[in-house]
Amino acid sequence: MTEPGISLLQGGATLSDDEITDLYAVDDRAVPWLRVNFVSSIDGAGTHDALTAGLGTPSDKRVFDILRRLCDVVLVGAGTVRAEGYGPMRLDEPAVRWRREHGLPDQPVFAIVSAGLELDPAHRIFAEAPVRPIVVTVEQAPGERRRALAEVADVLVAGAEHVDTARMRLLLTERGLTQVHSEGGPHLFGDFLREDTVDEVCLTLSPFAEGPGAGRITAGTPAGVQRPMALAHALSSDGTVLLRYVRPPVQAAMA
Ligand SMILES: NC(=O)c1ccc[n+]([C@@H]2O[C@H](COP(=O)([O-])OP(=O)(O)OC[C@H]3O[C@@H](n4cnc5c(N)ncnc54)[C@H](OP(=O)(O)O)[C@@H]3O)[C@@H](O)[C@H]2O)c1
Repeated sequence: MTEPGISLLQGGATLSDDEITDLYAVDDRAVPWLRVNFVSSIDGAGTHDALTAGLGTPSDKRVFDILRRLCDVVLVGAGTVRAEGYGPMRLDEPAVRWRREHGLPDQPVFAIVSAGLELDPAHRIFAEAPVRPIVVTVEQAPGERRRALAEVADVLVAGAEHVDTARMRLLLTERGLTQVHSEGGPHLFGDFLREDTVDEVCLTLSPFAEGPGAGRITAGTPAGVQRPMALAHALSSDGTVLLRYVRPPVQAAMA
């Protein structure tokens, strides 16, 4: 399959994978950073027929893969893992080469956030993982499930009934996993926004209008706050727009 041409929204040459990677790279990997990546229809739907596949375009997939290569850990809510039928995450050869050249381990860690732990320890996601996965859960998670999952994954506890996303970030940073990349889903993103733990939002606008029905890319208890984000870049490819928003720099105190 030919690669979809991607360029800056305001024009310019088609970008190579390396150039796209540079556009998404952070200045200092030692600084903890949490990026989320979502796709949406132009009328705000987060799914088509309850899945993201129908919203995806070749350029969205290309950037989706590039974002995986940049991180230390890919973090996903259990609802998305179940709905999207995630399998074991394994980056392809070009991505592994790029990671080696940049002094990173071949594969990022895969991490799942879940309170109820309805996750099968025998699932391929654990059994065939190239790196031991992480499960982030809560003190009140069912003990038996927690013990079974601890056989196949590192289980981190980051809250009593609900995973506190700031605490989770701290636990990941303590393990050297500073660059966190979340592929969703909406409830987890809602928690990130409510708890103000997101540094970057990558949003693909797909050239489809879905009409009423599908949920948005955030869900859960309303935060009641608005988080301003600064546009870092906008790319386009055949009607798909790929936006990168980052947490705005803290304003210097007025003299
Ligand atoms: N448009 C997009 O880019 C995009 C991206 C991802 C997903 N999606 C879509 O979103 C839908 C799934 O939505 P969703 O909201 O269920 O996804 P989700 O946020 O991935 O999953 C929610 C589940 O994740 C766990 N979870 C999330 N935050 C938690 C926290 N702070 N503490 C403890 N557990 C937490 C819980 O799992 P337990 O129930 O196991 O406790 C919760 O039920 C699917 O249709 C999927 O296709 C769309």
